Amino acid sequence: MSELLNGWKRTCYCTELSKENAGQEVVLMGWVNVYRNLGSLIFIQLRDRSGLIQIVFDKNALSEADYEKAASFRTEYVLAVKGIVSERTGNMVNPNMKTGEIEILVREFKMLSASETTPFEIDDDCNANEALRLRYRYLDLRRPVMQKNLIMRHQIAHIARNYFAENGFLEIETPILTKSTPEGARDYLVPSRVHPGCFYALPQSPQLFKQLLMLSGFDRYMQIARCFRDEDLRADRQPDFTQIDLEMSFVEEDDVMEVNERFLKRLFKEMLDYDVQLPLPRLPYSEAMGRYGSDKPDTRFGMELCDITDLLKDSAFTVFRNVIESSGSIECIVAKGAADTLSRKEIDQLTEFVKGYNAKGLLWISNKDDGIHSPALKHMTETELQSVMDKAGIEKHDIAFIVADKISVVKASLGALRCHLANKLGLIRPGQYNLLWVTDFPLLEYSEEEGRYVAMHHPFTSPKDEDLDKLESEPGEVRAKAYDIILNGVELGGGSIRIHSQDLQKRMFRALGFTEEQAQERFGFLLNAFKYGAPPHGGMAYGLDRLAMLICGTDSIRDVIAFPKVQNASCPLTGAPDTVDAKQLKELHIACTEEERRS
Ligand code: AMO
Repeated sequence: MSELLNGWKRTCYCTELSKENAGQEVVLMGWVNVYRNLGSLIFIQLRDRSGLIQIVFDKNALSEADYEKAASFRTEYVLAVKGIVSERTGNMVNPNMKTGEIEILVREFKMLSASETTPFEIDDDCNANEALRLRYRYLDLRRPVMQKNLIMRHQIAHIARNYFAENGFLEIETPILTKSTPEGARDYLVPSRVHPGCFYALPQSPQLFKQLLMLSGFDRYMQIARCFRDEDLRADRQPDFTQIDLEMSFVEEDDVMEVNERFLKRLFKEMLDYDVQLPLPRLPYSEAMGRYGSDKPDTRFGMELCDITDLLKDSAFTVFRNVIESSGSIECIVAKGAADTLSRKEIDQLTEFVKGYNAKGLLWISNKDDGIHSPALKHMTETELQSVMDKAGIEKHDIAFIVADKISVVKASLGALRCHLANKLGLIRPGQYNLLWVTDFPLLEYSEEEGRYVAMHHPFTSPKDEDLDKLESEPGEVRAKAYDIILNGVELGGGSIRIHSQDLQKRMFRALGFTEEQAQERFGFLLNAFKYGAPPHGGMAYGLDRLAMLICGTDSIRDVIAFPKVQNASCPLTGAPDTVDAKQLKELHIACTEEERRS
């Protein structure tokens, strides 16, 4: 039978107690983590959000009825216990527990709630699959690792709020029911009841509103903002996620970067006692792509890309020749000392891996004690082979991997292979945090699908002053005042200096292939606002989930989100998205076929 608190108050969390509290009477409340009945003594590990403590029920110290009640407890029962902190001695001390030097001798207790057997064990080592854990997420969240993750996420948000407030940023909320924003993903739409046939869009970011706030004179804005994007899920992507979003007026790129570098230094010091060295390295986009094949390079290890196209320009090998004739690229990476580590089967698996990035194949050159091995050997001259070995630095016991393809395929496949191999070969030292800026992004990129240039960041990003005159003549060559912050190969955040001149904004829209009417229709409210005195401004946004994921040392953002969605954007706990009843649809002026409802 569940009991009521009846005025009992918790005096502290379990792990706030130590030997220093010996002899004190305390009241603890929590869940039964482990239960052991030794006949005349019952030991319970009590769990609350701080951790565990041992509770002892002694038959001789309790009434018969109470002891019988305690004997009926099971794991996950909810208890309130009043007892005395007692020091453990000799081999009773448990060095694996934070509170292992003490235990609580129970004087009184209340059984607040019983529990059925849980579908999986509430334990960090529980081997239940993620689908089951997400269905019972409230139980999954009881596991110490999940409690730790969400507490750390709270601390990160707290540090961000404090830091930005101390630096003059005002926290201002922006609407959730709004108009489509220009971040490039698909929108989530919400039908309007009072405006038949009209839809709100959920914000992909507060981008336009934070720019308007700059026009209003708020000068420095920040928000921990919920954002919504209907895009394919990955380990570091969710349909609803959270940004630490900020914007500043009267600033240039360096000013935004500087205030954020100091934030990151403070964050890493307070969260991980890790000293970030400032200023952070900056890598222009072109160099990042050249050396790492990625605009979010993981710089914790080398294995940089080496361009060997020139060395093979006269090659008779059809694979190389075809690529060179179609202006492709031939590049390689070298895995130092791995020639004897990787089996043929593993090399074949690497070939499959790069095919996932549209590469047609993967060539390799292995420099072993008994000579050079390579499927390309018979197609390369002695001189070609030697020049490749020299330029790439392929020494004894090294193995090089070559991709010859369209430049974009070469970069994507070798960039990904580099990270895959670093993990496989154990090249990454744990506890290392490589933060860096990637700068000088192209302003525009050509979209084959749309047959026009599209903004690489968003249409309000300012071109670099020195590239302005190329906006019409060579749009693909214009660089942007944009910057991304990268941590260990993950894009943590990004931002830019915005366009604040109407003329330039019009030129930008033209470069993007919008007519004046189209621009006015989509972003008219912002363009009009620019007529009334727009300060120069810029800002950025961090993915809070990604930041928390990296600081908590996990590889999925689902581990730092209380109630995440799974691959197909559904929520296993609530069953969302779900059908709604016909009345609701009617009110919203929406018709839905039966097939659509079921699919
Ligand atoms: P951007 O689109 O680069 O910029 O987003 C900023 C950061 O948000 C995080 N992020 C995501 N996290 C989880 N799931 C997602 N689906 C997801 N999409 C993005 C990433 C990313 O770096 N308004 C601009 C910022 C600005 O210019 O000020 C913006 O939203 O960590």
